[in-house]
Amino acid sequence: MTTPLEYARENGERFKEQLKELLAIPSISTLPGHRADVEQAAAWLAEDMRRIGFETVEIIPTRFHPIVYAEWLGAGENTPTILVYCHYDVQPAEMADGWHTPPFEPTEIDGKIFARGAIDSKSNVMAQLKAAESLLATGSVPVNIKLMFEGDEESASEAMTEFVTANRDRLQADVVVVCDGSMADRQQPDIAYGLRGVVSMEVEVWGPKQDLHSGHYGGTVHNPIQALAEMIAQLHHPDGSIAVPGFYDNVLALDADERTELQKALPWIETEWKDVAAAPQQWGEAAYNLHERIGARPTLEINGIRGGFAADGFKTVLPEKALAKISCRLVRNQTSVSIYEKVRDYIAHITPPTVRSETRLLSTGEPALIDRHSLAMNAAIRAIERSWGKRPFFVREGGSIPVVVDIQRELGAPVVLLSFGYKGCAAHGPNEHVYLDMWYRGIQTMIYFYDEIEKGRAP
Ligand code: BES
Ligand code: MN
Repeated sequence: MTTPLEYARENGERFKEQLKELLAIPSISTLPGHRADVEQAAAWLAEDMRRIGFETVEIIPTRFHPIVYAEWLGAGENTPTILVYCHYDVQPAEMADGWHTPPFEPTEIDGKIFARGAIDSKSNVMAQLKAAESLLATGSVPVNIKLMFEGDEESASEAMTEFVTANRDRLQADVVVVCDGSMADRQQPDIAYGLRGVVSMEVEVWGPKQDLHSGHYGGTVHNPIQALAEMIAQLHHPDGSIAVPGFYDNVLALDADERTELQKALPWIETEWKDVAAAPQQWGEAAYNLHERIGARPTLEINGIRGGFAADGFKTVLPEKALAKISCRLVRNQTSVSIYEKVRDYIAHITPPTVRSETRLLSTGEPALIDRHSLAMNAAIRAIERSWGKRPFFVREGGSIPVVVDIQRELGAPVVLLSFGYKGCAAHGPNEHVYLDMWYRGIQTMIYFYDEIEKGRAP
């Protein structure tokens, strides 16, 4: 009789070809022109779920992009049920961004696959699907499995929040696995127990009634780009902390236990920072170490600035307006809307009388903390130990997965956050890739995880 692990090994090549098939579909959720592609990716997943033997498979339409949902409840009522969440949508990608290979023509080089979505998050989707296939095909599924794959994560998950809220009964589970993100090291596994929230907004600044000749009016009109730059310069103190009044009011301090936990992973996080961020030197709140600044402190970032003439060539223009995109990463117990309001009010306060400004809210997502001591977490630790031969560190992630708090609030089941790739794989950037050895380990980890859950009858 073939074991699930043997099945996964024997079918490894085909699994990889299937991963490439999914990666070739440009399921970009943030660009309206890709609706049909997102739907094609959903259809591809649903077909594979049916083929591998899920009893119920549905493509559920939403206000935005579809959710792909599948159930196998053959283990029976007295056996735990695991709900698995992943997202199959991706960020935009174009050759001009600096790709060496076409982003939607998956290319294998030296044990890596280069493609948009390779690390964020189609390898996670496919690790889940292929682990489930290995169990179903060998008749050895130890638990009930529900799979829920989102098509809107990269565009703030609004429909997902509604779906989870409206389907509490159907989604009922003993454990929820959220599979997204990546690890700080290729050899040393970690498990994230914290995610930051994110609130995004844009600030527009207007000066004269239209673009002006800078010779005619320069020196008499406050240039909106300059005014915006002066305002942006007042958003942080020189020590790197945020100057918005009340910004830190509800920030939950780390307890001693957590500090110790984060300290353990610090050397790996520092190495990763040097290799991946690779900026000339660190910046930020000196009172907090790198790991704390990434996972336990909030931020305010300028994501982009628009205004005037910045194309090739030159134009002596005094622009009518300027715009900045700003986002804040949030930690418990900050809430996205109240942080938005504080930033908005402060910007209004520091807008000079020579220009007008408006701040508009774009999207929200709340921060999450996950119990490190649940039985489900113990099962995850053991599963990783079995597949990696090493005990995972706990880390706090700086990124955001907005649906995690919705799942915690609506379903009440313990959540475990798992990821199988490496942080240096250029998520959202050019030449995004995944290491195949880590991906295969991810499949293995899930097979062990189901086994550990069943053994422990956890929680
Ligand atoms: N996979 C990331 C989230 C993530 C990043 C988790 C790093 C753990 C570590 C996800 O696809 C993502 O990019 N989320 C967005 C959310 C936003 C669009 C609301 C993010 O964090 O910017
Ligand atoms: Mn992403």
